[in-house]
Amino acid sequence: SSAPLIDALGRRISYLRISVTDRCDLRCRYCMAERMQFLPRDQVLSLEEIALLADLFIARGITKIRLTGGEPLVRRDIGELVRRIGRHLGSGLDELTLTTNATRLDSHAQDLFDAGVRRVNVSLDSRDPARFADVTRGGDIGRVFAGLDAARAAGLAVKINMVALKGINDDEILPMLRWCDSQSFDLSLIETMPLGDTGEDRTDHYLPLTQVIDDIAAEHPLAPIAHRTGGPSRYHAVDGMRVRLGLITPLTRNFCADCNRIRMTCEGKIFMCLGHEDHVDFKAALREGGLDAVQPLVDRALRLKPAAHDFHIGANAPAATRRHMSVTGG
Ligand code: GTP
Ligand code: 5AD
Ligand code: SF4
Repeated sequence: SSAPLIDALGRRISYLRISVTDRCDLRCRYCMAERMQFLPRDQVLSLEEIALLADLFIARGITKIRLTGGEPLVRRDIGELVRRIGRHLGSGLDELTLTTNATRLDSHAQDLFDAGVRRVNVSLDSRDPARFADVTRGGDIGRVFAGLDAARAAGLAVKINMVALKGINDDEILPMLRWCDSQSFDLSLIETMPLGDTGEDRTDHYLPLTQVIDDIAAEHPLAPIAHRTGGPSRYHAVDGMRVRLGLITPLTRNFCADCNRIRMTCEGKIFMCLGHEDHVDFKAALREGGLDAVQPLVDRALRLKPAAHDFHIGANAPAATRRHMSVTGG
């Protein structure tokens, strides 16, 4: 079938996020628990299986693919997968990109660029070494800076992702904005989402971006701009700066009505929404019947797409799903 992916609410699905591994070399407090049980190898799709499914989705009208994790660059031979999917760029696929913590970006940046990647999103919640180590439970920020330098040298554009956390990095938001401007990076601020048990209470650290924006605007006037990257970020121009400030506000201003996204986990499960448990499993069908067996499942998955997530943060609010962000890749 080559019918485009349009859900029951008329939303056109053009953006596929593929989590290539559930593993990560960091343990960000809002994302993972300190001790994680990762999937055994045989449950994880091979690179060839991922590539075949990517082919199928591109044939069905996916024009943007983002590789995520866990941390995508900890997957062995990730470069090979990027090259393989990158062959579709210019013929069906408009953008192939990654969201990474950048700890291993120094050794991958040039290969990514050569495979057609032009832009990466890098998660960075603090530029202070001790605080970074605290948020990530042990990460070395030197690795991230080395990764960012390599990205620049290779010609990759960078957008920094910063999860806004009250009492943890709220005092760093303005400095981060100015630093991103000085580095010619863009910046997206993200509201923390209740996914999976991290062993910590998110309510304590939840920071509504509505409030953050007022504080920034008091120093640097902001103006909404039409720039879009295909994801949920809504961008603003910052007076006197070149940096674009993106806001990702699932809690204070939900963006589900024009959602264009689906996600595939490293086990081959298709989740139509980050905040719901409903999914369709492609792995068994693919392993038993090949791509022909998968085709009808694509349409079944499409019918499962809910109108909106149902995230709530507050006393007694349960996590929207038991799975961690690292399973669905954000
Ligand atoms: P761009 O291509 O730069 O627009 O990237 P992106 O924002 O789509 O991707 P990224 O991986 O950088 O995600 C940034 C944040 O947005 C992460 O916290 C994601 O979990 C979140 N996000 C992306 N898509 C969705 C979505 O459909 N729903 C919700 N609630 N959050 C999302
Ligand atoms: N809420 C919001 N963003 C999160 N991320 C990981 N976990 C959460 C969460 N619970 C972010 C990471 C990364 C992106 C894929 O998702 O920082 O930038
Ligand atoms: Fe779409 Fe679900 Fe994301 Fe909402 S939470 S924007 S419905 S994927």
